[in-house]
Amino acid sequence: MIIGSKIKLRDKRLGDALNDYTWRTDPELTRLDASPLVTTTFPRYLADYAHELRYPSLIRHRFAVETLDGKHIGNCSYYAIDETKSEAELGIMIGNRDYWDKGYGADTVTTLVNYIFRQTKLKRIYLKTLDSNSRAQKCFKKCGFTPCGHLGRDRFSFTLMEINRKQWQEQQTEGMG
Ligand SMILES: CC(C)(COP(=O)(O)OP(=O)(O)OC[C@H]1O[C@@H](n2cnc3c(N)ncnc32)[C@H](O)[C@@H]1OP(=O)(O)O)[C@@H](O)C(=O)NCCC(=O)NCCS
Repeated sequence: MIIGSKIKLRDKRLGDALNDYTWRTDPELTRLDASPLVTTTFPRYLADYAHELRYPSLIRHRFAVETLDGKHIGNCSYYAIDETKSEAELGIMIGNRDYWDKGYGADTVTTLVNYIFRQTKLKRIYLKTLDSNSRAQKCFKKCGFTPCGHLGRDRFSFTLMEINRKQWQEQQTEGMG
């Protein structure tokens, strides 16, 4: 369990599958996330879900995001972990709309970034978000991410953002001052 100010992060479990299925079949959420809309049935999704929990990827760490009183409101992860480049990509989705624009996303990102820089030797965390997703970009800026480029992929246009260990350390020092 990783505790933030407004949220806690915990390992994924089978009981998350229904929320995740609901969010992954939601056209607005998948559009904001630039991810494919899940079209399989829930039983099929659940079977794949159980398999992934049993055989987790070594280059991807997934967490459920819960409110401090234990409500599952979203997910986050770091993945594409590259030991040679010493970097990984961060992903987040607050699937429950009741929790948008209240700082839950920023606290999730800050908590996950703190965890990664404290528990691993990685030096850089990056993410991509659609150019049009102003809410996400504002959230990531609040957490110390800075824009570092653009990426066109398929029909999407992404803004790339990053934070490196040195910037993060400086933020920690500023926070203490
Ligand atoms: C993107 C997401 C993670 C952000 O989390 P959140 O909890 O809503 O974000 P926060 O409240 O921490 O910060 C959002 C900020 O953007 C602001 N904002 C909201 N809509 C905005 C808009 N259209 N333009 C500019 N800023 C906007 C909010 O007011 C807030 O700023 P403030 O704290 O100064 O008031 C979450 O909304 C989410 O998962 N959305 C659905 C999926 C998605 O967008 N995925 C893409 C992830 S890359």
